[in-house]
Amino acid sequence: MEIDRRAFFASLGGAAAISAMDSEAKADALEDYMSEQLDNGAANSASTTSPDKKFPTVAELDAQITTRDYRRGVGTLFANNGRNVKKLEPLPANPTLLDFFKYRFAPANHVLQSATRAMKTGMTEEIILACLLHDVVQSLIKPDHGWWGAQLFEPYISPKATFAIRYHQTLRFYPDSAAGYEYPDLYYRIFGKDYTPPPHIEATYKMLKNHKWYMEPRLVTVNDLYAFDPNAVVTIDPFVHNVGRHFKQPKEGLGNDNSPVAHMWRTIARPDSPL
Ligand SMILES: [Fe+2]
Ligand SMILES: [Fe+2]
Repeated sequence: MEIDRRAFFASLGGAAAISAMDSEAKADALEDYMSEQLDNGAANSASTTSPDKKFPTVAELDAQITTRDYRRGVGTLFANNGRNVKKLEPLPANPTLLDFFKYRFAPANHVLQSATRAMKTGMTEEIILACLLHDVVQSLIKPDHGWWGAQLFEPYISPKATFAIRYHQTLRFYPDSAAGYEYPDLYYRIFGKDYTPPPHIEATYKMLKNHKWYMEPRLVTVNDLYAFDPNAVVTIDPFVHNVGRHFKQPKEGLGNDNSPVAHMWRTIARPDSPL
């Protein structure tokens, strides 16, 4: 993976801040920076901004499958792009959504940047929440992450926010310049320049085009970010009240509440469990 040295140094606060760090802290910072770039598979600024824009074909990407010891669809908690995974901190006994953000989804840079943008562009609280949650299920699994993500949150958020999460995955393949959404270069890179979405995505798009809630997932794609901004400072703090108002936190804790998706939260809580 290519590292943009200037962007990396800037992200640490510049030369003075770096000189105050010991070598272990510097190594940790580099690892964190790389993991942020890869966070949710949605950022590789060196690639997305390369001037020559040489994108692979579907066949070239297929040929890479057997060069890896993991599949591209595995969740980020379970595979670390060829690097060793980190020891995870235990969750509190009754874990909340914010605990999962802190201990399992972190750094969650991509969704925090998307939600921050949604807030700045004056979106409703429902859309801001959908942006905050739209990709975090990629910690667990990546293929069909819109459907997995909507399922993970459905018992706890509104039907509209669930709809927005479920279908952003479909709409990101279809430009809508009137809404301010163009097909992202990143997708030429990660899916292949000659990629066409599978039939279930095409059929879902047809359904969405005439749906009264079309703009819910569309606004998630409009606020979705496809390039990592190393200078952005984002935290969960501006969204804590939104989560308090719109996320029905079970008092027993996520995973302990016997909801139809409690097992998904338990798997995210204990990804080192062998069975
Ligand atoms: Fe997504
Ligand atoms: Fe996203």
